[in-house]
Amino acid sequence: MVRARGRFASGGARPAHWCLVTIHATPHTPHALLLESIHPDAETALRASGCAVTTLDRALDEDELIERLDGVHVLGVRSKTNVTERVFEATPDLLAVGAFCIGTNQIDLHAASARGVAAFNAPFSNTRSVVELALAEIIALTRRLTEKDRAMHDGVWDKSAEGLHEVRGRRLGIVGYGNIGTQLSVLAENLGMSVLFYDTADRLALGMARRAASLEELLESVDVVTLHVDGRPDNNNFFGDAEFARMRPGSLFLNLSRGFVVDQESLRRRLESGHLAGAALDVFPDEPKGRGDEFVSPLRGMPNVILTPHIGGSTEEAQQDIGRFVAGKLADYLTVGTTSLSVNLPGLAMANRLGEHRLVHIHRNTPGVLAAINGIFAAEKVNIDAQHLGTRGDVGYVLTDVGADLAESVLDALAALPETTRLRVLS
Ligand SMILES: NC(=O)c1ccc[n+]([C@@H]2O[C@H](COP(=O)([O-])OP(=O)(O)OC[C@H]3O[C@@H](n4cnc5c(N)ncnc54)[C@H](O)[C@@H]3O)[C@@H](O)[C@H]2O)c1
Repeated sequence: MVRARGRFASGGARPAHWCLVTIHATPHTPHALLLESIHPDAETALRASGCAVTTLDRALDEDELIERLDGVHVLGVRSKTNVTERVFEATPDLLAVGAFCIGTNQIDLHAASARGVAAFNAPFSNTRSVVELALAEIIALTRRLTEKDRAMHDGVWDKSAEGLHEVRGRRLGIVGYGNIGTQLSVLAENLGMSVLFYDTADRLALGMARRAASLEELLESVDVVTLHVDGRPDNNNFFGDAEFARMRPGSLFLNLSRGFVVDQESLRRRLESGHLAGAALDVFPDEPKGRGDEFVSPLRGMPNVILTPHIGGSTEEAQQDIGRFVAGKLADYLTVGTTSLSVNLPGLAMANRLGEHRLVHIHRNTPGVLAAINGIFAAEKVNIDAQHLGTRGDVGYVLTDVGADLAESVLDALAALPETTRLRVLS
């Protein structure tokens, strides 16, 4: 059974915060709604954690989503369902949202935090898939495979070694040495490439890879440049005429990061002039909305240019991993209150419950809240077995294990704190 009560901290016409939602984990069964054909492993993982699960193979619009979320505690979406402020306002039972993908733009994270709803995503699950595509493309471009393939399909037997190379011994320049860049670094070295990388942040060089002191140094030194930077606004048109001009004649270029990072016209000119020997692009500034829509680009039809429809992270393995990873995060949040890798709440992990009950308290992060919480415990003679506090911006998160029988008056007092956004009890 879910006991949910709400009161609005601001007292105004518009709810600022849901103040009290208490959930008793046993024998209560939380309900999960998974949309957009999320991988079945997610349903299995959530059921194993005690959830009742409903699945739908499509996205929902705002009104239908609100209607469907009545009595739902966990929502799973991919990229096509928008979880707006209005959705959060209308669904006080909702405890957590899982984005079964990388991006979280479709979720109003500010509104989620303000109502004490935890959000999770899968930041790493498809990184290996991107790395494998990049490696395949580096080899394909170096051997001019797509040209040979096209000629064969046109009935032309073009047997010649001219312009075809091994990747062994070639220099790879990785721009952006994060989750993807570092994995690529290790695998490329295993193929015999020597790796130079450039990153604006301090990153540990893996294996024999070397760090370039500047982007310019990297561009002037390597045979293949591959971009794996993130999508921060500063990276808009980060790579244009000046950067292509610095690249060595005959070198190769790859972008599997974000489309808006590269000036497409500059790239076309450098390919046409022969300054670059080839390129592979998986992401574009203007990507078609739907499957089957026309793809418009100045790079279409160019020789030794590989164009793929943003499929770097799209493999069945990645989808399965995303399903398991996000469902695991949601299940841990429901059962023990763990928020590790949450995209909006402070990350806290306090493994097994030490006391009879675990109080999960989300609040507005202002000075003195922890003292106020513990003042209530002291006044009500509740002994604390373990406690952790985490803060993130204006959100505070406290997990407290207590052994005593929990009187309603303790919960009422915690809920009545003006900073309280949400309170759950796991018993
Ligand atoms: N093609 C696909 O299907 C696909 C799939 C997954 C991820 N991606 C994209 O790949 C990119 C990398 O993903 P990740 O998980 O490795 O990200 P990440 O955040 O782990 O790493 C990005 C790295 O780039 C660095 N960086 C940012 N701007 C830079 C700049 N201007 N110069 C040098 N370094 C810079 C950051 O410091 C960071 O180390 C992201 O843009 C992501 O959206 C694409």
